[in-house]
Amino acid sequence: MDLNKVLTKAYDYAITYTDAGVPANYIPELAKEDKTKAGCSLISPDGKLYEIGSSRYKFSIQSIIKIIIYLCVLENHEFDYIKQYIGVKPSSKPFNSIIELELSNKNIPVNPFINAGAIVACSLLQKKYGNNTFDLILNRTRDVIGNDKLDYSRSIYNSENSSAFANRALTYMLLNSDIIDKNINVDDLLNTYFKSCSILVDAHDLSNLSFVLSRDGKDMSGNQILNKEHALIIRTLMATCGTYDYSGDFAIRIGLPAKSGVGGGIVTASKAGYGIGVYCPGLDSHGNSYVGTRILESISKELNLNIY
Ligand code: DON
Repeated sequence: MDLNKVLTKAYDYAITYTDAGVPANYIPELAKEDKTKAGCSLISPDGKLYEIGSSRYKFSIQSIIKIIIYLCVLENHEFDYIKQYIGVKPSSKPFNSIIELELSNKNIPVNPFINAGAIVACSLLQKKYGNNTFDLILNRTRDVIGNDKLDYSRSIYNSENSSAFANRALTYMLLNSDIIDKNINVDDLLNTYFKSCSILVDAHDLSNLSFVLSRDGKDMSGNQILNKEHALIIRTLMATCGTYDYSGDFAIRIGLPAKSGVGGGIVTASKAGYGIGVYCPGLDSHGNSYVGTRILESISKELNLNIY
């Protein structure tokens, strides 16, 4: 199978949908992104790299960072303890839904990939690491992706910080119901979360992350970068919760565990051993890259990657 041809076919098909997506506009800095920019990076099981389009264009990782945040929590706490604060159930509402939190058992966020779940995850880390929490997340992101130059965008962080009214509402609800410890400093907590979402990556970085998750935590050189059991938990949550209330459609259409971000990136995880990351900032109504989803649809079909 010529993987360059697979990528070209996927790109040519998906790019025709550019007009269907809309860049996130609730974070003003993201609304400026050019939705005609799309890219894909694919690492084959034998470690060869294939790229197409704007695969080295930097964008903010956004919700994809929730994988690393949850990984850090798994690395610091027992799974049963974590589940007292963050569930592992799919969500039926948008990623920043207040009503979903209000209706959930004891106000426990249903999973770590919705905003409420990721903010609670940051709070569990902050209890232990205090002001070093963001550094922990950034350094772990650098390790897992294998790029020590990764940093966050100050302009996106500021934009998010000044517009994140729903996240503040969720945080205060979580404090009210003691899911977040009342001793936590809310500004420090949200700064950690916003900075984490503002880390800049490209599709190539995402394909490295995908490769490690797909390979039970091993990187290209065979180093065990993260625990095999943690990779399994994360892949499972990606399959059930990674694209929010679109996860069922995504499973039917693409058939791969995946995690999206409103920056326009999607990272997949496939037991077939491929590392795949895509980018295009135009989003569907659930917050998933429209063109990115279609690139993955085509690749999955061509390479027979559907796991179901
Ligand atoms: O907190 C937010 O709303 C954003 N920083 C992240 C949301 C996001 O990426 C949802 N993903 N598709």
